[in-house]
Amino acid sequence: MTTVITYGTFDLFHEGHRRLLERAKALGDRLIVAVTTENFDDARGKLNVMQPLMERIQNVRSSGLADEVIIEEYEGQKVNDIQKYRVDIFAIGSDWVSKFDYLNDYCKVVYLERTKGVSSTQLRNESGVIKLGVVGSGRIAARFVAEARFVSGVSIEAVYSRRFESTQAFVQRLELETAVTTYEELLSNVQAIYIASPHTTHFDYAKRAIEAGVHVLCEKPMTLTKAETEELFSLAKARGVVLLEAVKTAFSPGFQRMVAVARMGFIGRIRSVDATFTKLVNVGRELEGLDGGSISELATYPLLAAVKLVGTDYSRICTHSLKREGDEVEIFSRIDLSYLHSVASARTGIGVKAEGELIVAGEKGYVYVPAPWWLTEYFETRFEDSRQNKRYYYKFDGDGLRYELAEFVWMIRNGVLESFKLRPEESIAIAGIIETARANSEYFG
Ligand code: CTP
Repeated sequence: MTTVITYGTFDLFHEGHRRLLERAKALGDRLIVAVTTENFDDARGKLNVMQPLMERIQNVRSSGLADEVIIEEYEGQKVNDIQKYRVDIFAIGSDWVSKFDYLNDYCKVVYLERTKGVSSTQLRNESGVIKLGVVGSGRIAARFVAEARFVSGVSIEAVYSRRFESTQAFVQRLELETAVTTYEELLSNVQAIYIASPHTTHFDYAKRAIEAGVHVLCEKPMTLTKAETEELFSLAKARGVVLLEAVKTAFSPGFQRMVAVARMGFIGRIRSVDATFTKLVNVGRELEGLDGGSISELATYPLLAAVKLVGTDYSRICTHSLKREGDEVEIFSRIDLSYLHSVASARTGIGVKAEGELIVAGEKGYVYVPAPWWLTEYFETRFEDSRQNKRYYYKFDGDGLRYELAEFVWMIRNGVLESFKLRPEESIAIAGIIETARANSEYFG
């Protein structure tokens, strides 16, 4: 008996998939089809697979060509599967020629010619590519454009920023199509925008976009006050458009798993969260004007950890900040939140460097996430009896901005206005804490 195995995402099952399975099956007596999980696809940079795993498996089953369907969930799995299922032939489409030659050590590798003119990507795009506009032409906007290339079903249509010369230079440098001269022009050409302009301009841009029925992905902090953030979310709800704060960590697989592990009771009731984020800045807007300082610049990340782990129902905020000698710039802050049964502390620094770690302390043990915890790739659960300690590893691809964009696109496509990964009330609570912390901090020189 000859066993054949093949692997794929099989999103929006099409003729190319069916023909591949037919020919793979014809190579032997028994065909195993491995369908990839969402996480595996995310890790490969194939974001925005349209159908959930169960649906994709069902489609492969319905083809009647697979004798067995298995799930592919980790890198290196093929080597194990081939041995475990006593596979004789590994078959895959010709788009992968030479990539799997290493499997020749375990079985015969056959590349089957790919069917021309059809692919899942093409089908996804036919169901409508979302036209996206970018507001801003700074560093973060440039990183976003690069990351957007990993998310299918979305294309960057045009860019607007306050100074047209910078917009033009940005568009040229990043090989984009259109630089527009007015914000109105941008809004009338796109379905969605990504706002990456200075903090204090977010509210106005977001409000105008929502009023025009354009979906908004807004850099953090969305605004610097609770009232403004609230206003934007209620406006978005009323207009039926997606509004999402671009906090990349919230949408990354590692951070979500860490929150789930911390909250599943493993470490007992969570009593304390300590999160630190520092990034030294020597020049730039972070050090200027009324909206500068480490809280407005960085506090979103540690506060995200706090609200995700101990919630939004804090009863008290107490903040201590350090100012740079010679001027009024706030360069280091400690925001302490008290809850009914827990405490959380967020430390931010643009003029003081500290270890960027996250510690979630519970009654039975704690979660330790080493720096940089906001690009969560690894964490540990630790206990009094260190033999119980456990390590968890995840992938965090690129700059991570692809995760927030993938979530945004998914929400637009599915008409979902709230993401459980970062709920409106969590963004509103974070804005409220930032506002209070900045207004009421006790300052030291
Ligand atoms: N395949 C094929 N002919 C096509 C499309 C896919 O033979 N026109 C093969 C691939 O080479 C692979 C299998 O089908 O062996 C599963 O491919 P998958 O990546 O799921 O499908 P694609 O349509 O290539 O997906 P995408 O566009 O997202 O890359």
